[in-house]
Order: sequence, then structure tokens, then C-alpha cells
Amino acid sequence: MCGIVGYIGNKQATPIVIDGLKRLEYRGYDSAGIAVHNIGEPIKFLKNAGRVAKLETEVNKNVPLGTVAIGHTRWATHGAPNDINAHPHKDCTGKIHLVHNGIIENYVSLKNELDQAGHKFSSDTDTEVLAHLIESLFRGTLEDAVAQALSRVRGTYALAVISEGDPAKIVAARNSSPLLIGIGEGECLLASDPSAVIAATKKVVFLEDGEMATLTPEGFRIKDLGGDELLKRLVEIPWTLEEAEKSGHAHFMHKEIFEGPEVVANTMRGRIMVDEGLVKFGGLENYAKHLANTERLILTGMGTAYHAALIGEYLFEEIAEIPTEVEYAAEFRYRHPILDNHNKATLIAVSQSGETADTLAAVREAKRRNVFTMGIVNVVGSSVARETDAGIYNHAGPEIAVASTKAFLSQITVLTMASIFLGRMRNLEITRAKELLAELVALPDKMSRILEQEQVFIDLANWLKDAEHVFFLGRKYNFPIALEGALKLKEVSYLHAEGYNAAEMKHGPIALIEPSFPTIAIVPQDSVYEKTISNLEEIKARGGPIVAIATEGDERILKVADAAIFIPKTLEPILPVLTTIPLHLLAYHTAVARGCDVDKPRNLAKSVTVE
Ligand code: AGP
Ligand code: GLU
Repeated sequence: MCGIVGYIGNKQATPIVIDGLKRLEYRGYDSAGIAVHNIGEPIKFLKNAGRVAKLETEVNKNVPLGTVAIGHTRWATHGAPNDINAHPHKDCTGKIHLVHNGIIENYVSLKNELDQAGHKFSSDTDTEVLAHLIESLFRGTLEDAVAQALSRVRGTYALAVISEGDPAKIVAARNSSPLLIGIGEGECLLASDPSAVIAATKKVVFLEDGEMATLTPEGFRIKDLGGDELLKRLVEIPWTLEEAEKSGHAHFMHKEIFEGPEVVANTMRGRIMVDEGLVKFGGLENYAKHLANTERLILTGMGTAYHAALIGEYLFEEIAEIPTEVEYAAEFRYRHPILDNHNKATLIAVSQSGETADTLAAVREAKRRNVFTMGIVNVVGSSVARETDAGIYNHAGPEIAVASTKAFLSQITVLTMASIFLGRMRNLEITRAKELLAELVALPDKMSRILEQEQVFIDLANWLKDAEHVFFLGRKYNFPIALEGALKLKEVSYLHAEGYNAAEMKHGPIALIEPSFPTIAIVPQDSVYEKTISNLEEIKARGGPIVAIATEGDERILKVADAAIFIPKTLEPILPVLTTIPLHLLAYHTAVARGCDVDKPRNLAKSVTVE
């Protein structure tokens, strides 16, 4: 959610920053704004509630000149999404302008103090307090004033500040909200994530919590809030610009669903040795001893990542035989987890963005309790990736659509490989490991065979789009997939859907079944197939329409289901990737049929960086 872009260099800054804001739109926001400084003249700013396109229209009426600019997309936390609360915010003099992602938790007390000192506020936001606080501390050097101001602040921030009083620089700082520096030739950029800068440069430096940067056309310096200079590692972003574009697909979500086979192949690339029945994770090599002895796994995440974690529970217990529990990240630190065997436990945080505040908080709580932490993360250099003790990158490429699809398939693939990795340190026999790995390697081709059936999903979507409520049902590995199918349909088509354990239907929900209440059943020929068929018979007996995700060659399924989508056979632990694709495609086409904003669904953000 929300985003920051900055530019300082030898070019006109306004079009570069506006283009960067457009590339951050996918993160979800409600307002946008820009401040531009033509050195020697007053800083100009424009801002509005609504889309970046609206801001661009205003900007283009009289493009502000200047080689320094900061831009912002806001996801309101304090103060309604309106023009005055949009960023940038300025101080009383109008000479200091800043943009901010995050929450200033102690803004009320700071605002009262500044109010009594005569500062005049124009917005209802927490952010504006920062502008006045910096003004009150400014003595000619912007970074000093910002550092002193931040020492008074409690909360989260990604921050960019410019000032007429100390021109030709951008001062940036981060605490919990992501921020990176893009390094170009004679120019520096600032952004919330790589997609906003890769048009200009792939060389980036990620700011960490408590770090402050001063950007000039010549380069940048990074210090901690105490003023000590820090040396930072340059990261080369492995994404090309077109990877961040739609590549001819109508929506990013469609592109990313069809990238699935390639993504799963990339997730496995260089990590699987079928003949040896082994998996190799470079990021875990130094921790093999701890992992070989870990007696308990705690998997955590939110939303779709939580569903992947639920799949992981079945995988780790069945394949690695390690006791595993799954917890919503947001619940983890508040439920008083018992971690007395902390040296034998491992917390695995699953997060596509690596910036989900709830998930980051769970990691920090586990570390506070001396629990070994691992991340399964897609965005290189993100907070979860940097703050966990070890981790596995998904290598799924940028996921732009708010609804997570390819990243989920990659998460499941990583968890399957991880269960084999850990299992082979324990009792998993090489023959079983080789079978599983061979089926993993065969996944991309089997995934493509499902994607080739796209017309089936378009036809089903035209039927489903008029439903008011939908059930998704499954047992064992298929239960988390039912939850994921329901979430995907809800979040992109705004249809009410519930994922349920198929056995649970008898305990109440079946009261809802009637001809207008369809059920999507995930019922491949696996160890719980017969039991699930019985559950479906109970629904059929009450006139509930059923669409089944079934195994190719299953001749029984159409005796109970009204329609079926057939997926290729594979081993039960490898099925989740295959059973998921139909649900993602069904959600996508239903959303399109209902005319929804598929890539940027209402009320949603790509990365929920507030708790
Ligand atoms: C997934 O489609 C949703 N957009 C949302 O549930 C998401 O999975 C959740 O916010 C977690 O995000 P993360 O993987 O980036 O941590
Ligand atoms: N808390 C600030 C506001 O509500 C920043 C929100 C954001 O991260 O965009 O304006």
C-alpha cells in the first residue's frame, strides 16, 4: 500500500517522479501528490485525492520545472482521503516539504506541543506533524533536523524531505516501511520498491530500519540516526522492465496466472537434484545443524501467504515428520505463544512482499524470544527477508496484481521442497524423495495443460458471476486450497465466498445449500476422495449445484457434480499447485465478467504495511 518516489539529478524531475508513481499504483492508494524544487525558486507542489492520472492532468497544465522532486501515493490511516490530507505536507514557512508512508503513533502529543509553540496545521494527518517538527529543529542542515525530529518520533515511516533552506538534496529515512535508493549516472532515485526505478537503474540500496540517507546528484550517504556513516551493499535487481509490464495480457493478474509454470520452474531452478533425492537451498547452508535438530515448526503469514502456510503444515508433518503449527501472524504475538523450547523451534514467515506489518511483527516477536526465524519471501531485500535469520527467495518475479497468484504457487513449491530438504535430514527415504522431486519437476508441463483449458473457465465464470454466495470445499491438502479459492473470488469479483473443510458442512453450513448456492469442490483422487464424494452427495441431495476440480480419468465425478475441471494426476503432496490454478482462473474470469477492477480491487492494497 502507498508509495514514495524521489528524484535528484541532472534531468527534469517531474515526469520521472510521475512515471514512478504510476509504477507503484498497484500497491494500492487513495491519493497522490508531488513537490518539485527548481533550485533558487520556491518549492511547488500539487496533490489530490484520487488517481495518479488526476495528478498528472493537473501537473501537465503547467509542468513544474526543477531537478529535485518527491512524490507520494497515500493509503490513508489518519485523516480522510481528501486533497488537503494528501501528501506532500509542509511546514509553516512552506520551505520544507515531505512525504511519508507509515504511522506516527505519538503524533497527538507532538502536535499539541507544536500547536502550543504556535505552529499552524492544515491537515488531519499524523504526517504533517513531522514537517512542523523538522521546521522547529532546522538550523540550516536538513539531515540534522530530520535526525533530531525522528528521535522524537514513535511509529513507522518511510520518509522523504526537501527544503529551500538546504537545497539540492533529498533526505530520506525508514523505519518499518520499505524504502530504497536507485543509483543512476549523475542522479539518484528514491522508491518504495524496485518497480518504480528499474526503468532508470537496476542498482539499488535498501534502507534498513533506523537508517537515514542524504541523496544528491553526485550520490548518496547513509547514516544511522546517531550520525554514524554506514556502508551498504549494492543490490542488482534481477527483474527487467518488461517483467513489470503486462506483456500483452489484459491484466497483470492474467499475466501472472499464466506465468505460473515458468515461476514454478524458476522457484526450483538450481535447487533440486532428483537423482540424489536432495534439495539445495543456498540461504540455509549455514543453518543445516539447527534445522536438522529443530523439533517444532511454526508457520505464519497473512491472507494467501497464510493459506500457503496451511499447506506447509501438511507437508512438513507428512514428509519431514516434524510437528508443525500454523498461526495468523497478527495473532502470533498477542496469543502468548509458548516458546520454552525456543532453541528447538523454528518460525517460518511466508510473505510475498516481505513488508506485511503483521508478519514482520511476528518475526520480531519470535526473534525477541530467541526463536530461529526463516523467511519465504519474493521481494529481494524486503524487511522480512532482511530481518529473519535465514530464508528462501521465491524467485517468482514481480507480482503486480493485488491478488496473489503466481507467488502463492511459488510459496507452495518452496514449502514442498523445504519439507523434502528437512525430511532428508531425518527419516525421509531417498526413494520417496526421488518420487516427490520427479513429480515436482514435472509440474510446469502439467500446469500448462490446465491453462490450455481457459475457455472452460470463461464459460463457468459466465454462470458463476450471477451467484450471490459460493462455497469452496476440500479436505486435507484441499482444505487450504478451498480457503484460497474463496479468498481469490472474494477479493477480485466482490462475490461472497466461503472456504470450508468438506467434512465441516454437516456441522451447520449445509443449512445454506439450495439451488442458488453453488459449491466448488476440490476433489482430486487422493486419500480423502471417497469421504469428499460423500460430502458432495449430501449437497447434491439438497439441490446444490456442484463444480468439481477432479483428476483426469475420474469417471465417477460427473455422477455427483454438475460440471468438472480435470487436472493431471500426481502425488497427493504435489497436488496443491495443480488444484489452485483452476480457482485462480475462475476468480479472474468471474471478476472480468462482473466488470471489476481486476488488478486493483476496491479497498485492497498489495502490501498491508499497517497492523
Ligand atoms: C492475496 O491475494 C491478498 N492480496 C492478501 O491476502 C495477501 O496475501 C496478504 O496481504 C499477505 O501479503 P504478503 O504475502 O505480501 O505478506
Ligand atoms: N499515516 C499517513 C497518512 O495517513 C501516511 C499513510 C501512508 O502510509 O500512505 O497520511
